[in-house]
Amino acid sequence: MKFLQKKEIEKDKLPKHIAIIMDGNGRWAKKRGNIRLFGHQKGVSTVNEIVTASAELGIEYLTLYAFSTENWNRPQDEVSGLMSLLVSALEKNLEKLLKNNVKLLTIGDLQSLPHEIVKKIHAAQELSKHNTGLTLILALSYSSRWEITQAVKNIAQLCIDGKISIEDIDYNTINSHLCTNNIPDPELVIRTSGEYRISNFLLLQSAYAEYYFTKTLWPDFSKQEYLQAIYDFQHRERRFGKTGEQIK
Ligand code: IPE
Ligand code: IPE
Ligand code: MG
Repeated sequence: MKFLQKKEIEKDKLPKHIAIIMDGNGRWAKKRGNIRLFGHQKGVSTVNEIVTASAELGIEYLTLYAFSTENWNRPQDEVSGLMSLLVSALEKNLEKLLKNNVKLLTIGDLQSLPHEIVKKIHAAQELSKHNTGLTLILALSYSSRWEITQAVKNIAQLCIDGKISIEDIDYNTINSHLCTNNIPDPELVIRTSGEYRISNFLLLQSAYAEYYFTKTLWPDFSKQEYLQAIYDFQHRERRFGKTGEQIK
């Protein structure tokens, strides 16, 4: 990997929305003979580094996949460890986030999280709601299949209630019932840890996203590699179904 300078990133071609599947914490810890939670703790430092870098660069939206609906099936001690870590990371970093003009949002089935945790997250969101810098979106108990199922139920109810007709349903209708309503689609999706899969993350929203896969485990991911991913993105040709000639 070539060492990139921040100035090599073209400021007028930044992806508006970057989404990250932060993966590899468990393997990182295991390689060091430690318990998985140790990897998650180290992963929080990477989160801080990447959030700060995003705010500095002028990225408008950053979504972090922190916990999937499937992650509830992990051993109970890991799940509760992750929940505690979420609260402590939020408490420790809230002041800095507010100072950096970060607006906090969440997507996912928050009702499935412990009530005390949801209260703390909502309080943090409330404090940050007038901020105008980076919008940081935490995907918590999120999965696309859950999200799409909710959207379908809500739209079906509107039809039953006579508020819309089936003929009126188009992609905008569906989009407006997703958790990411009002958030532009991610243009760049990064996955760490060398897994080449999407794991139920922003399936509809990333229909035309560019993907950046790296073998680096999340605790080892850095601002330098983040710049590399953005640099890569800026040198791809996005065709949206057209020919290369039409784009030029
Ligand atoms: C972090 O990595 C992602 C979370 C679900 C919190 P993992 O915990 O999945 O780590 P690996 O993939 O087992 O190494
Ligand atoms: C995806 O990682 C979920 C998060 C990063 C929160 P997983 O580690 O849960 O995904 P799989 O099981 O490898 O597909
Ligand atoms: Mg994993």
